[in-house]
Amino acid sequence: MPNVLVVGSINMDLIVRCERLPTEGETAHGDDLVTAAGGKGANQAVASSRLGAQTHMVGRLGEDEFGTRLRAGLEENNVNTQAVLTDPDASTGVALILLEASGQNRIVIMSGANARVGTQDVATAKEQLPEVDVVLLQLEIPISTVAQVAAAAREAQVRSVLDAGAATREAIDAGLPALMDVISPNETEAQALTGVEVTGLASAAEAARRLREMGARDVVVKLGSEGAYWSGEAGEDHVPAFAIDPVDTTAAGDAFTACLAIDIASGEEMLAALRRANGAGALACLKLGAQPSMPTRGELESFLAGHT
Ligand code: RIB
Repeated sequence: MPNVLVVGSINMDLIVRCERLPTEGETAHGDDLVTAAGGKGANQAVASSRLGAQTHMVGRLGEDEFGTRLRAGLEENNVNTQAVLTDPDASTGVALILLEASGQNRIVIMSGANARVGTQDVATAKEQLPEVDVVLLQLEIPISTVAQVAAAAREAQVRSVLDAGAATREAIDAGLPALMDVISPNETEAQALTGVEVTGLASAAEAARRLREMGARDVVVKLGSEGAYWSGEAGEDHVPAFAIDPVDTTAAGDAFTACLAIDIASGEEMLAALRRANGAGALACLKLGAQPSMPTRGELESFLAGHT
């Protein structure tokens, strides 16, 4: 199994479940408030570890109760947290998540310590690169940090995979597509990066084409219940999703990207890797919360075996 380095965000997710999301100006009643460990970086680290990879994380927590709980959760999941700093000058990142009965969500993040992942953390990541097979990045820490880690990975000939959430045009201005081996946005992220409104396969293909023109080697557009569209040097294809009844779609993309990164680093062929990543994403939709829903290798293998 590959060694994985995740450089990214760690959040406490505050989840309010409601029958339906309120419209503008409307006040709605929620059913309950649940806290669960989250943050795209930490979710992908937990997914990577549960799927069997040696996983190290670089990131920052605040010196507060959420930070203590989140570090303990990562360690319980065998994620190496030696390079996760406790920053005395910031609070731990928080995500406010409105979760509707359909399983769909709306998320607002308050970055806190994640916004301070910078020069010192880049240096720590660089020290780890000689031992690493793949670096997993997202866009919930400063873009300049992501770009520096990706450039260092390329120089060290280590694969890099970018989950493009939460995407802004700043990622394009920083030249991220050309620094990545794989870039994987969802529909809204693909639109934020390329300006193409992604509503189906044709528009996903157009967004992927534009990202490849910007230098991305492989582009994987996550399409939710439609699966994933891939375009790369070796070809292009659509891999349909598994049919499920979602409880909570939060972090399905994180499970997908972590699984994809591990399988690519293990030498798996792209279409097979995408099918497995769709399986990991589907399993993540079946439980409430981000990190609590990340599948283990055993769960993934038995799911895939039951869906031939
Ligand atoms: O991808 C899901 C994650 O996005 C949540 O866990 C939340 O923390 C936000 O970062």
